[in-house]
Amino acid sequence: MFKITIYSVRKVERPLFEKLNKYDFDLNLVSERLTIDNVDKAEGSDAVLISGFDDCDGEIIKKLHEFGINYVYTRVVGVDNIDFTAIDGYGMQVANAPGYSPRAVAELAFILGMTLFRHVSPATYNTHMANFALLPSYFANEIHNATIGIVGAGTLGTAEAKLYGALGAKVLAYQRHPDPENKAVEFTDMDTLLKESDIVSMHIPYIPGKTGNFIGKEEIDKMKDGAILVNTARGPVVDNQAVSYAVRNFKLGGYGTDVLLDEDKIMGKQFDSLDDLPNDIDKDLMLNYPNVIVTPHMGFYTEKAVEDMINISFENFDSMLKTGKPTHLVNK
Ligand code: COI
Repeated sequence: MFKITIYSVRKVERPLFEKLNKYDFDLNLVSERLTIDNVDKAEGSDAVLISGFDDCDGEIIKKLHEFGINYVYTRVVGVDNIDFTAIDGYGMQVANAPGYSPRAVAELAFILGMTLFRHVSPATYNTHMANFALLPSYFANEIHNATIGIVGAGTLGTAEAKLYGALGAKVLAYQRHPDPENKAVEFTDMDTLLKESDIVSMHIPYIPGKTGNFIGKEEIDKMKDGAILVNTARGPVVDNQAVSYAVRNFKLGGYGTDVLLDEDKIMGKQFDSLDDLPNDIDKDLMLNYPNVIVTPHMGFYTEKAVEDMINISFENFDSMLKTGKPTHLVNK
């Protein structure tokens, strides 16, 4: 029987892995995230299935190779936690799980955007401090009169565009290679998108050396005063220091994010206070609450999305066993 060690299996996900195992794989479900300290739990397996916060650096990949494992598949879209130099050096295969319920991430991005757009975050913060004054800063636009800028109009960006479009907003998008079939957005250049949008929402992948700080000081300066920035992609696609400065100085109206820097050291953990965060930039950014709102990378965390991730991953393994190639091979 084909044995797969699966890391980072949360309690709510365990029954789903068992229910959806229609291929009768031998599943070794490990609740902790993959680190060098528990990589030996994969010994004796044919493959590993990881998630977005698992360590998959050169040292770990070397160990997996020593265990005779050739298949390092991930059940998320992003592969920025995987060292491809090591993977390719050992001739290993990586597959991912694109296309899992795009509404999961899109709905969270939309909610973060709307929450800041209608000033709900500062308003609820103040009412909880017993301040019921109707502050001038709560005076708002309505979404059907607003322009949204989607940066990266792939599956997720387009799903978010449709949510805003359904409410009558004008939706612009920037895409390196615009899809002429995509009618949910109006494609434009980055400068126009920044200049015209009331909410800018990030949906580009983080490719080290390429898409880091895609939105930095220069881009923020081009945005409307008081515009909202939303990031449900990856922390480093935005210059978090520049964002922090812009929110503090009221250039940006707010930043809603599901992603931070150094997430592998943060996500899933309970710290005693924000002072204990391992990254000073994250800490500084979070001090701007309630105009910076942060969720713990939970965009994917819906029943439908997790089921999709498991089904797509199992299909990847099934296809690899039948044809030698997973459905979503990453390293061609
Ligand atoms: C992704 O699919 O890339 C995600 O952001 C999900 C997360 C669990 C890392």
